[in-house]
Amino acid sequence: MSYGLLKGKWGLITGALDERSIAWHVAYRAYEEGARLIMTNAPVALRLGKPKELAEKVAAPLIPADLTQIADIEKLYEEALRHAGRPLDFVLHSIGMSPNVRKGKLYPEIDYEYYAKTLDVSAISFHKLLQIGRAKGAFARGASIVALSYIAAQRVFPRYGDMSDAKALLESIGRMFGYFLGKELSIRVNIVSQSPTPTTAGTGIQGFDKMFAYADRMSPLGNASAEACADFIIVLFSDLSRGITMQTIYHDGGFSSMGIEETLL
Ligand SMILES: NC(=O)c1ccc[n+]([C@@H]2O[C@H](COP(=O)([O-])OP(=O)(O)OC[C@H]3O[C@@H](n4cnc5c(N)ncnc54)[C@H](O)[C@@H]3O)[C@@H](O)[C@H]2O)c1
Repeated sequence: MSYGLLKGKWGLITGALDERSIAWHVAYRAYEEGARLIMTNAPVALRLGKPKELAEKVAAPLIPADLTQIADIEKLYEEALRHAGRPLDFVLHSIGMSPNVRKGKLYPEIDYEYYAKTLDVSAISFHKLLQIGRAKGAFARGASIVALSYIAAQRVFPRYGDMSDAKALLESIGRMFGYFLGKELSIRVNIVSQSPTPTTAGTGIQGFDKMFAYADRMSPLGNASAEACADFIIVLFSDLSRGITMQTIYHDGGFSSMGIEETLL
C-alpha cells in the first residue's frame, strides 16, 4: 500500500546488489511512495548485471561508484545533481564488507591490511559520502540520511569479527555528522540497527544460520525482515520523523532489550 510519503522527493540509494539486499527493498518502497531515485553500486557489482535490472524497475539511473574512492563519489554526486536538477532529500548508505570475515580470520588474529579495508568500505565510506555530499551542496534542507548497522557494535558476536569495530565507527560518524548537518541545514542522520537478514553480506558471516535462529528465538516479535526494515526507513526518509536525529534505532523485533528467553531455560 502506498501513502505517498515521499512524493516530490529525490533520493540516492547505495548497495542494492540483488532482490535480497536491504537497499533493494528500500528502493522499491521509496519508489512506491512516490520518490524519484538515483542508484549506485561498486563497478565490480555492476558487472553481475543484477543492479542494472533493479535500477530499471524503479526507473532510476545507475551510477557506478566505489564508495571508498573520493573521485568516484565526486562524480556520483555530480551526475546525481545533474540528473535530479536539485539537491537530494534522502540518502541510504547500505554497504559493508570485511576481507577478514570473508577469509574466516578470528578477531584476535586479523590481518591489518584487511582491517583497514573493512573500516574503509563499511564505515569511512559513510564519512566520505557525507563529507563530499556536503561540500558539493548535494543535500536539501531538511534531508534525511540513513545508514545500516548491527548490534555487534554494542555487544560481542565473535564471528562478526572486525565488522563489529566498523559498525561502532559507523554509528559514531552518524552522530557526529548529525550534529553538523543538523545545525547547518536541519538534516537528520540516523542509523538503523537491523536484525540478521539473509542477504549476500549477511550469509557471508560464519554461522549466520545459527545467529539468525538464535536472534529469532530471543526476539518477542521474531527477526525483523528486510521488508519491514525498508518500511521503517521510508518513515525516516519522510517528513513524519523530522524530530529524530543522531540515533541508533534498533529495528530488531525486540532483541536488543532481551536478557534471556524463557524457552531457553
Ligand atoms: N544482512 C544482515 O544480517 C545485516 C544486519 C544488519 C545490518 N546489515 C547491513 O546492511 C547493509 C546492507 O547489506 P545487505 O545485508 O543488504 O547485503 P548486500 O550484500 O545485499 O549489500 C552489500 C552491498 O555493499 C556493496 N559494496 C561493497 N563494497 C562496496 C564499495 N566499495 N563501494 C560501493 N558499494 C560496495 C555491495 O556491492 C552490495 O551491494 C550493510 O551495511 C550491512 O552491514 C546487514
